[in-house]
Amino acid sequence: MRIERLSVRDFRNFEAGELQLGRRFTVLHGENGAGKTNLLEALYLVSTLRSFRVAELGPLVRQGAAEARVELQGHDPRVDLSSNLAVHLLRGERSVRRLAIADGKVIRAALDFYGRARAILFTPEDLGVLRGSPGGRRNFLDRVLFARERAHIADIQSYEKLLRSRNQVLRDQGTNSPSEPLLETYEAGLAATGARIWTRRERLLDQLRATFMAVFSQIHGAERRASLAYLTRLNVPDEAEREGALSDELARRRRDDLIRGITTVGPHRDDLEIRLDGHDVGEFASQGQTRALILAFKIAELRAARDLSGEPPLLLLDDVSSELDPQRNAQLFQALTEDAGQCVLTTTAPGYVHLGDAADTAYVEVSGGTLRALRSPL
Ligand SMILES: Nc1ncnc2c1ncn2[C@@H]1O[C@H](COP(=O)(O)OP(=O)(O)OP(=O)(O)O)[C@@H](O)[C@H]1O
Ligand SMILES: [Mg+2]
Repeated sequence: MRIERLSVRDFRNFEAGELQLGRRFTVLHGENGAGKTNLLEALYLVSTLRSFRVAELGPLVRQGAAEARVELQGHDPRVDLSSNLAVHLLRGERSVRRLAIADGKVIRAALDFYGRARAILFTPEDLGVLRGSPGGRRNFLDRVLFARERAHIADIQSYEKLLRSRNQVLRDQGTNSPSEPLLETYEAGLAATGARIWTRRERLLDQLRATFMAVFSQIHGAERRASLAYLTRLNVPDEAEREGALSDELARRRRDDLIRGITTVGPHRDDLEIRLDGHDVGEFASQGQTRALILAFKIAELRAARDLSGEPPLLLLDDVSSELDPQRNAQLFQALTEDAGQCVLTTTAPGYVHLGDAADTAYVEVSGGTLRALRSPL
């Protein structure tokens, strides 16, 4: 689906705004704090029903407003069909209620809404993910999966909920005798969703590995070898045996977990490992090499997504250019022109962005929550 228009109302710092997207590229530029990333967040929200910046959606509603609305107008040229996707966020007493609407109809099951507009996001935080925490790397992997497998979002949500519940019981019970049946129920759920999460993450890496390695050599030169692995405590190559193995391990660790008050096994403790010539990237690679590795990963993701659905997803690039040196910037835009379909990118200085054909590109200036379309690049 090609996205033609994005409208926002009382979303973040926008009271009301409308953005006409370019057929291929849309360049959002403006000063720090103007609202550029907020617009990417709006597009991402319609794609995944989540924000990439906050866990709860409250901060997305403009301060002082009771309700935020985001609406996408798209067109699928293959079947000549227009569609309209909207997300409303309604501020309640304690939380924000989310309403997903497709062509005027409220879609109750989130699973039926995800993925109608597929989007891939790339932010400057991604560039630092290899040096950051394992939690950041797990999120990085899960965000890739959110864009391609509807069931993954639901699994992550139920896994997180079950984990909170199990940890709560562990802490409440302390040294008293724990409520075994309750723990068993949570563990059964954790094992089932956990095994699916584990397997999806591992399959994703298996799928991206060859392209990732090839693109990295292309960007950085063939003399260094990059590798990609999923690190998990349990070694269970057979996917069908993972649920049972997780369930056994959770039961086995119950005593220890009670003492520590946390759950010590499962995909919430796993990690994505990228190595360079066999060395740990955090300890070995230069800043530029680390970025080239992540860039190669994102390009592999983009190619895989395109192969999967037959059309490239919407690519959201948040201020990435300013973080890269001119050579890697050129590589990035080269790859984009080859691989991307529609792409919305933000920048403080349009000079960072090197796009070929201006006819396919919309330049929009963002300033303090207002949008101004520009005829030509600055
Ligand atoms: N709920 C909200 N209500 C009103 N304003 C908000 C809300 N949430 C965020 N803002 C405002 O939005 C602005 C930040 O927007 P955004 O992060 O999109 O900036 P940006 O253009 O991407 O800037 P940078 O170039 O620094 O990344 C800030 O001025 C912030 O105060
Ligand atoms: Mg920003």
